[in-house]
Amino acid sequence: MVSIRQARVEDLPGMQACNLQCLPENYQLRYYVYHAISWPQASFVAETMGPQPRIVGYVLGMVADEDSEVPHGHITSISVMRSYRKLGLATRLLRQAHACMVECFGAQYVSLHVRESNRGARALYEATLHYHVKDVEKGYYADKEDALLLRCPLSSERTLAYPLPKSELAPAFDAPERSESDKKKEEEQARLERLAQAKARAKARNKGRGRR
Ligand code: ACO
Repeated sequence: MVSIRQARVEDLPGMQACNLQCLPENYQLRYYVYHAISWPQASFVAETMGPQPRIVGYVLGMVADEDSEVPHGHITSISVMRSYRKLGLATRLLRQAHACMVECFGAQYVSLHVRESNRGARALYEATLHYHVKDVEKGYYADKEDALLLRCPLSSERTLAYPLPKSELAPAFDAPERSESDKKKEEEQARLERLAQAKARAKARNKGRGRR
């Protein structure tokens, strides 16, 4: 049996392993941690039940930054291990993520990018979940394939039909185990991000002064 539940920090390596097996778009563990810390309610896992539970699917979700016009969710990545496909797991993972995006963040729609050639995923999004094509982003992927930007309006009537128990809505996030070299890489990337943010803030301040 497979259960769907909100993702916890200890699930992140299992989610990453599933992603590496299923998709060419892969991320460093710190990117999963960033999602878990920023939007802990928006990611879910499909886990086998039994003595040795295993993550066999995940959806990694986020919510758009403050500067966008209306709050909206974004599906960064979703995949289900090959032998667990066509059982409705991705549909359930996405519906749970949609419901939490509405309930926790007031999201009005959800978006995602998908390869134009990914027929299976497109059938899931467009036929089953009623996403529609909003835009085509030329050469979006590393191999230059175009991405379709899909969108699906969210409303509480539609999404809250998939409630979660209260205990699952506020999971505790303990820091995951990381190697020394991972820690150093993460610190260096965090330093570079802080530097870039400081530069952006200084630029914005200078622009503001120029206008006055
Ligand atoms: N071919 C055609 N239609 C499909 C396929 C397929 N291979 N897979 C799913 N569908 C459609 C069907 O309409 C299906 O309904 P049905 O079973 O009644 O016919 C419906 O989607 C629901 O399917 P689920 O069982 O919920 O989907 P599943 O759990 O099998 O997962 C997924 C679908 C995530 C696309 C899986 O095939 C996968 O992991 N693929 C590789 C990774 C991937 O492509 N991820 C999406 C990339 S885009 C992104 O991450 C934002």
